[in-house]
Amino acid sequence: MKERYKVVVVGTGKRGMHHAAAFQANPRFEVAGLSDVDEARLNAAAAKLGVAAKSTDPRRLAESVRPDVFCFCTPPSVRTDLVRAGIESGARLIAMEKPVALSSTEGFEIRRLLEGSGVKAVVSHQHRYGEHYRKVKEAVASGALGRIHTVYGTSTGWMMHMLSHLVDYVRWYNGEADAEWVMAQAAGRGKLTDLHPSPDYIAGFIHFANGVHGVIECGAGAPDVPEVDYWWRKCRIGAQGTDGFAEVLTGGGWRMVTKEGACSGGGSMNYDLDMPPYIQEMADWLDDDAKVHQCNFGSAYQGFEIMMAFCRSAAEGGQVALPLASGGDELEMLRAAVPQRKVLLAMAANAKEYPS
Ligand SMILES: NC(=O)c1ccc[n+]([C@@H]2O[C@H](COP(=O)([O-])OP(=O)(O)OC[C@H]3O[C@@H](n4cnc5c(N)ncnc54)[C@H](O)[C@@H]3O)[C@@H](O)[C@H]2O)c1
Repeated sequence: MKERYKVVVVGTGKRGMHHAAAFQANPRFEVAGLSDVDEARLNAAAAKLGVAAKSTDPRRLAESVRPDVFCFCTPPSVRTDLVRAGIESGARLIAMEKPVALSSTEGFEIRRLLEGSGVKAVVSHQHRYGEHYRKVKEAVASGALGRIHTVYGTSTGWMMHMLSHLVDYVRWYNGEADAEWVMAQAAGRGKLTDLHPSPDYIAGFIHFANGVHGVIECGAGAPDVPEVDYWWRKCRIGAQGTDGFAEVLTGGGWRMVTKEGACSGGGSMNYDLDMPPYIQEMADWLDDDAKVHQCNFGSAYQGFEIMMAFCRSAAEGGQVALPLASGGDELEMLRAAVPQRKVLLAMAANAKEYPS
């Protein structure tokens, strides 16, 4: 066990800066190097954080710094090369952003690289640490909802941004049970050219091995959450059981109805609150193999396969069995299959436009 773990952060945009600041605020970590292909952005980040070692070449930086933690927060198209660079630098843990990859072929390769190296990895589904998110988890675990039969999640944000989050949290509320199959539909081509390429709207069902069903809607056709004013926080995720339900609104607290009656409470997505425990669990896992990080890659990967299976089902029709038996390019499948018709919005009058 080391007193301080050295970290390299690659990508100094919004999420890279969140990560770097949270590592710096934790005495168990030292941000020892920064990388970004955008030199001006890199220089500004290095000056702001007071980090001397920097490079526009993440691999060279990691080779010279030899970090314990290789963290990258780059656009979804930049994944496999950085996983390789992290492993080859000798890092013991790779911290990456969601989504895991843009295709199951790439996801298979990332999993193969990580499993072959034995390097630990985590994926940033840090909403789990929100007090309102945890309240729903506690309600499920307490038995107050009876036997859980349905978990659900909706988000007005589009797939490559938000489906990874939704699936992770419904899996969490369902005790991380294995998924056996999914079936989904997709509409709208507007976001297939986005940096987070997605159909405008995707919706489907997940059948879990424990008999619970997941119901998911993500994108422009998903229901509004009028209680929440900010587009990216209009997510509603919850669990229904024989004795009641509990749900979280990403930007609007939690609510619950059980045999005892109805109750509700506060909480809103907040990076300042969610990042510190996410980062601390990395130190705990590095210190002790038994203290597995709850956002570990293995768990996130199962959610990623569900997302890819949704795309395959939407493109090809019918049920898709899990785990996936072979890799593929699910976005290409969607580009070939999603109808040309414009997607119909389901937003309330306060947010008619689908943002670009
Ligand atoms: N977990 C969450 O809640 C959450 C929230 C927002 C975004 N994200 C995810 O985080 C990731 C990054 O998003 P962001 O909002 O920080 O994006 P961003 O555009 O603000 O930052 C990305 C940075 O990566 C740099 N970059 C690109 N390619 C690179 C390369 N090959 N080597 C080094 N640097 C490179 C870019 O120059 C940019 O500075 C995305 O995958 C996104 O989906 C997660």
